[in-house]
Amino acid sequence: MKRFFSILLCLSMILMMASCSGIKETKPSAEAFVVGFSQVGSESDWRVANTKSMATAFENDDEYEFLMENARQEQENQFTAIRRFILEGVDFIVIAPTVEEGWDTILAEIRDANIPVIIIDRSVAVEDDSLYLTNIGSDFLQQGKLAVEWIENDTPSDKELKILHLQGTIGATAQIQRTKALEDAVRTHSNWKIVSQLYGDFTEAKAYEVMTTYLKTNRDIDVLYSENDNMTFGAMRALEEAGITYGNGGQVKIITFDATKEALQYCHDGKINLCVECNPMFGPDVKSLIEKYRRGEAIPRHVHVNESAYTTQNITQDFVDSRAY
Ligand code: AHR
Repeated sequence: MKRFFSILLCLSMILMMASCSGIKETKPSAEAFVVGFSQVGSESDWRVANTKSMATAFENDDEYEFLMENARQEQENQFTAIRRFILEGVDFIVIAPTVEEGWDTILAEIRDANIPVIIIDRSVAVEDDSLYLTNIGSDFLQQGKLAVEWIENDTPSDKELKILHLQGTIGATAQIQRTKALEDAVRTHSNWKIVSQLYGDFTEAKAYEVMTTYLKTNRDIDVLYSENDNMTFGAMRALEEAGITYGNGGQVKIITFDATKEALQYCHDGKINLCVECNPMFGPDVKSLIEKYRRGEAIPRHVHVNESAYTTQNITQDFVDSRAY
């Protein structure tokens, strides 16, 4: 009997501790609205912030159960995760696609299972765009145009400009559109030249590797157009090791995309010339689109998040400090 009471006491103490420490009771999934999210990976600081924004939006709400699968930058892993979501009978699927091509079959499978889909961040290139409800993310072409505009304003029209181009995952919307903006501009500026296009896969390690190799035989660069911050950090390390100066007053002017806190700090300190913003914090917007859909309200076909561009001249330390990602 004594033993029974001490077990009872232990149990009630555990329950009390759980309620005091804010440990959440998990609802049985039969009651919750289940969202399956196939995320690209964790290749960049941007991606980590996007994952956090998505998870926070859903995980703090008892009405939802949020299942996330990390595809480690492989489209095949996304297909496997999505098929698992279908088998599990989730109520909604959110996909951040690695690349644009190759989605027709899997999206048709989701439609056959009567599960609504939202595409976030990058886009998909499918023949039937009624296969998904909406696409929310950045206007990547506009980001590239902001970068090009900055180069135009910064470069005298008679000066020959040698641009080194670091590219992200080939076939991803962020790569396709940022590359398009630059290549279009080079076609219309006879004094601009892309000296090389290096593949950095949106990661710091890959960019450092390809830049280190490139700089062993090529040092004549005026501008580095790097398609994300993490590749820029890898490139900066390679430039330093090669003894090449960069940033304000340096040999190589640096343009980067994302505008994470770390990149903005470098920009503020004069090490990066231009940070083009790519906002990853749209988890709450994805949730509100899903809620609109659940209430039977119309949702727009495409939603672009607000973005801007920053130079040493227009950012303050307070702004850098307040950056959420
Ligand atoms: O699709 C958004 C891009 O993907 C971001 O620029 C990059 O950092 C991420 O990996």
